[in-house]
Amino acid sequence: MSAATNPPGQFQFGVVGMGVMGASIALNIADRGFKVAAWDRHPEKIDAIHAKEGHPEMKGTGSLAEFVQMLERPRRILLMVTAGAPVDQMMDQLAPLLSPGDVLIDGGNSWFHDTQRREKAFREKGLHFIGMGVSGGEEGARHGPSLMPGGPKEAYAIIRPVVEAIAARAESGLCVTHVGPDGAGHFVKMVHNGIEYADMQLLAETYDVLRRGLGLTADGLADLFEKWNQGIAESFLLETTIKVLRKKDAETGKPLVDLVLDKAGQKGTGKWTVQVSLDLGIPVPSIASALDARNLSAMKDERVAASAKLPAPQLALTDEEKTNLASWAHDALYAARVVTYAQGLRLIQAASKEYNWNVSLAEMARIWRGGCIIRAKLLSPLREAFTQQPDLPNLVVSDAFAPVLTKLAPAWRRLVGTAARLGIPVPVFSSSLAYLDSYRSPELPQNLTQAQRDLFGAHTYQRRDKPEAGFVHSDWS
Ligand code: 6PG
Repeated sequence: MSAATNPPGQFQFGVVGMGVMGASIALNIADRGFKVAAWDRHPEKIDAIHAKEGHPEMKGTGSLAEFVQMLERPRRILLMVTAGAPVDQMMDQLAPLLSPGDVLIDGGNSWFHDTQRREKAFREKGLHFIGMGVSGGEEGARHGPSLMPGGPKEAYAIIRPVVEAIAARAESGLCVTHVGPDGAGHFVKMVHNGIEYADMQLLAETYDVLRRGLGLTADGLADLFEKWNQGIAESFLLETTIKVLRKKDAETGKPLVDLVLDKAGQKGTGKWTVQVSLDLGIPVPSIASALDARNLSAMKDERVAASAKLPAPQLALTDEEKTNLASWAHDALYAARVVTYAQGLRLIQAASKEYNWNVSLAEMARIWRGGCIIRAKLLSPLREAFTQQPDLPNLVVSDAFAPVLTKLAPAWRRLVGTAARLGIPVPVFSSSLAYLDSYRSPELPQNLTQAQRDLFGAHTYQRRDKPEAGFVHSDWS
């Protein structure tokens, strides 16, 4: 790793940050025949990687200046460091070492407004900055992630050969595209994670209803989900759930999942998705309910105390429910996921208009078809829907999905009704159904809300029989 072994200008790509994701993506790039320079503030991490899975095309250094010198021009450097201040710190250290036209890529889950600020700051120095969502975890980074780069077109052209070489491949093609300018890539990754939260919560609710309602064991559920995964409900997260359910604890022989504490963590991208949805006025109740479900699960002590005060209804399924609950759950899971993806894409559409990004929803569905956490069979008809109609106002009214949702809704309603009757919380199944019922309703009860607001706050309202009158106030006394 000494300076003598690293000649200047001979390496085609640089990776900063040799954590799990950084090391995995660096090895992936080296596998594709690029000479990779690696830097970490703890150089011993590079030695550990070489010891564990060295690669002849990958060379490390503990000197940032030497790392930069090792790279051919225009330089291409990927930051794989924790989002937030570490990114700014690395940018401050690297900027003086770089030359005009060099490209710095942030591959972390960064807040898109930070990316907009960073891209502008680098542009003013004659440097390129790209914010790139990287999805698929360690496995994806090592063997084929879905990549969501956003930034200047000319910068994307410089990194394109490398990101296309390492991206996952699906029947829809390479799982990478230029998402749009400045923060577009990190925004899309954030929404990807928001959908991921909802998708995971729907699976948790399905697991809960069938486990508590039908008394299915972990293996029984895995058998059922394996059948589902052969059909329209196929998804990476369903496949992940099957693996989780099959895993036995080495010490006790019990299903390991039964020994996992029911308090969910979160790194923040789901929360950001909901915060942005509120700022843009775009409802994403499925994602918000999934976030609340994680937060409620973290209130474990309160929940245990409350259970002594608030007894659960008795769990008694009718014969009809016993016979149909699994089938209702399958149909509800697929329908609620469609509605969740619809909300996420609607949010991307709104941000794309707000920030002039011109993001293609069909392209987002295409690059999510492989490599990423929310990859699923439903993304193929979803992509087709937005290909046929790029300005589709909402996926739920597409020719592909409106009939499917109408057909599956009765089962979905039975699933939610049964869970409610049994006292089993299904927040995302319920909020997704309410979204669909609201979106398809020409009449909603907000006339009462407007009247109430005018009574106590004189906030005025519009009369449906006198649109020309504009906003009026009445004396409701
Ligand atoms: C991905 C994942 C990843 C995310 C983890 C943890 O696309 O590979 O979304 O980026 O960080 O899933 O996320 P939470 O801790 O927020 O669940």
